[in-house]
Parts: sequence; structure tokens; C-alpha cells
Amino acid sequence: MKTNVIILAAGKGTRMKSLDQTRSKVSYPILGVPLVRYVLEAVKPLVNGEIYTIVGFGGEVTTTLVENDAKVVWQHEQKGTGHAVMQVAPYLQNEEGITLIVCGDTPLLTTETLRNFVEKHWQNHHDLTVMTAILSQPKGYGRIIRNEAGFVEEIVEQADATEAQRLIKEVNAGVYVFDNKKLFEQLQFLSTDNKQGELYLTDLIKLFKKNHYVVGASILEDENEMLGINDRVQLAEAAKLLRLRINRKWMLAGVTFEDPEHTYIGPFVKLAQDCIIAPGNVIVGQTSIGIANLIGPNNYLENMVIGDHNEITHSHLVDSTLGNDNHVGPFARMRGHCEVHNHTKIGNFVEMKKVVFDDGAKVSHLTYLGDAHVGEKTNIGCGTITANYDGVNKFHTEIGKDVFIGSGATLIAPITVADGAFVAAG
Ligand code: UD1
Ligand code: CA
Repeated sequence: MKTNVIILAAGKGTRMKSLDQTRSKVSYPILGVPLVRYVLEAVKPLVNGEIYTIVGFGGEVTTTLVENDAKVVWQHEQKGTGHAVMQVAPYLQNEEGITLIVCGDTPLLTTETLRNFVEKHWQNHHDLTVMTAILSQPKGYGRIIRNEAGFVEEIVEQADATEAQRLIKEVNAGVYVFDNKKLFEQLQFLSTDNKQGELYLTDLIKLFKKNHYVVGASILEDENEMLGINDRVQLAEAAKLLRLRINRKWMLAGVTFEDPEHTYIGPFVKLAQDCIIAPGNVIVGQTSIGIANLIGPNNYLENMVIGDHNEITHSHLVDSTLGNDNHVGPFARMRGHCEVHNHTKIGNFVEMKKVVFDDGAKVSHLTYLGDAHVGEKTNIGCGTITANYDGVNKFHTEIGKDVFIGSGATLIAPITVADGAFVAAG
């Protein structure tokens, strides 16, 4: 059976209070990854049809974030969640199968939860299943109205709810599975007859009931998973929950975190066993770290590929590779395209860009290396600079193996220093 997904991501995100009018709410990042990407990654394994992402406010930005994995459908005016889904009708309305609808601002939903949810829909032969949660603070969410027999009758939005309905603690999580044909058949009957003058997707429950279609609800075990980001307080709350979830996974896989509350590991990062990670680390992007690395305090590592048994502390390393058994920092910086092999030392206040640094080479203090190759076992003295830029062009510096560069040398590129050469200080 065909499963398609619709991600609602056109809303404005007024409560983020941003001055930037090009910015959609779902583009706000947690651990370096935009909110909508979390939702995409969660639904991807469940789809055998298409993922449609509805964009609108800040839609250009959202498009760049999702277009590799989803079809982008524009909702030019935001007239409500029901109206958002209507925009997919030209693509989907005649298809058999089911459609999973999720919001782009709920980054904590997991694949496992969504898979169980869809399975429940099947097993119970529902035409519509809505995900719900019991919240001690239900304010702001749509309330689930059940009849005496316990069956879901309708969803009433906060703005439209009576005093009595507002006391209900079961809320709509904003996740639904629909029989696809019935979804598009009933969408056209939505009305804007409500406090916000919008077409509410949630009114479909009432419409389905009226047609004697089978409607069911599935209550979330962990209500944190439905946390939707509407403002920057919720952004921080969700970030914390995600952070701890990720860190817990790695601890159980054999990585030591000295302080998981203050360690920031992105969702796509890979860590191997017996690494020790001190507080204050931010490790993001497609970084992978091999076994038994000692990641000392306060590093920023982005898109780094790191081998085994290295020691790294207080450093800022991006878009580069490190082999095995290297000592980096404190206060080293790799700005990108550095390839550091094995058994090297890169000390304090060393900056590198586009450098190949061979086995056993050393650069211990106060140095800039750019557009350079440093051969095996070469020692670069304190205060060495590769002057790689003449104001117009960049040039390469080639330093052979077993070279000694004395302190305070300025190597004006293009230049080649032969194997075994000795350069005096200054
Ligand atoms: C919605 C539900 C509410 C539920 C809550 C869960 C409706 C009417 N209400 O309320 O019952 O408890 O989610 O978080 O559906 N969007 C569009 N186009 C629009 C309007 C919204 O794409 O025209 C998108 C938003 O970007 C967002 C999602 O739909 O990702 C939900 O919209 P939002 O305005 O946040 O709805 P809530 O008021 O939170
Ligand atoms: Ca919301």
C-alpha cells in the first residue's frame, strides 16, 4: 500500500519575533540542523511514495532545506492547516493508499513512534487516526473531544473552545494518518466558520464522523515528542531534550560524557567506543570520530573526519581530516581542507588552511600554514608564516620531509623547501 507524507511548513512563525522576513520558522536550527530536517529524517523510512513539503512564508529558504528529499508545494497565502493540505490535491487526490501528515516544527518525533502510529491505523482499519497526548498544560493546543463511549468526536481549537472544553487535557499532537482518497474528498467541505477564520485540518474529524468513516486516536507515550516550536523558549526546550536524547544514545554505545548537559552533539555525528568527551564541546555536521579519542574541553568540530587515539583540546576544526594519534591544541584552528596524517603535533595558536601535514610533522606554536604541504617528521618553528597571498593570488608552499624551519621564518610562496633542509631563525 502506498504511503505518502505531507509536511506542513508554510506558517509564519510570528512568535519567533524575528526581524528577518525571509526566514521560515522551520529553518531555525537545533544542533546545527534546521527543524524541518528532523521531521524529514523521521518520516523518510516510512514513505514508499512521495514526501510533499508545503512552503509559504520564507518558502525560498525552506525549499533549499528540503528539496533534495521532498517535493515542494507552495501555499502562497496561509489560510490554515486544511488549506495547506489542499495545495497537494493536484498531485495526490486520486491516489489510493494512506497519507501521513506531520508539522515541520516538531523535531522530537521519532521514526519509531510514527511507525507504530501508522501500524495502529492499519490494524484498526481506520480511515483517520489522530495522534494525541495528555498534557498537564494543554493551553494553546486543539482539545480532543470524546463521547461517552470514549470515541473521538471532534477537535476544538483553543480559540474556539468553551471554558469546560479548555479543561480537557488530551490534545491534538498535529500528526494524522488518512485514507488518502477520503482525505481529499472531505477537504472541500471545510469552512472558515471559526474564531481564526481559517480552514482547520482538524475539522475533518467531525466531517469523517458525519460520513460514518472510522476515526481513531492514538495516545503518545512520551508527550515530549509532540513539542512544537512556536517561540524561542520552546526552541531551547526542544534543543535540550534532543541534546540529551543524542548524548544518552552515545553513552549507551560506549562513549564517556563528563557532562552530558553541556555537550552538544549533532544528530548526524558518529562517535566510536571509548571516546572521552569533556564539557563544552560542540560537535556538529557530518563529523565522525574514531575509537578512544580524548576530546578535551571546549572544542568546536564541524564536518571533521577523525581517526583513532587523538587528543584534541580547546580547538576550532572544520571541514578537515585527522588520522591517528595526533595532538591538537589547545587553541588550534583548521579552517578547512586540511589533511593531517598520523602522530603529529599541532600546538597552540596554530592556524591551518588547505594543508597536507604528513606523519610525525610538528608545528607547536604561533604559526600560520596556508596552501601548504609539510613532509614527514618536519618541524615548523614558533612564529612561522606561509605568506601564501600576494594581494591578488594564492600560491603553494612545499616543505619536504625532515626539514627544520627555524623560529620566525616567513616563507613567501610560491616556494619549495627541499627534504632535509635547515632554515635558520628569522
Ligand atoms: C495545530 C492544530 C492543533 C494542534 C497543534 C499541534 C489546527 C487547526 N490546529 O495548531 O489542533 O494541537 O497544531 O501542534 O491544525 N501551517 C501551514 N499553513 C497554514 C497554517 C499552518 O503550512 O496556513 C503549518 C505551520 O507551518 C505549522 C503547522 O502547519 O508547521 C501547524 O500550524 P500552527 O499555526 O503552528 O498550528 P497550531 O495553532 O499550533
Ligand atoms: Ca504549532
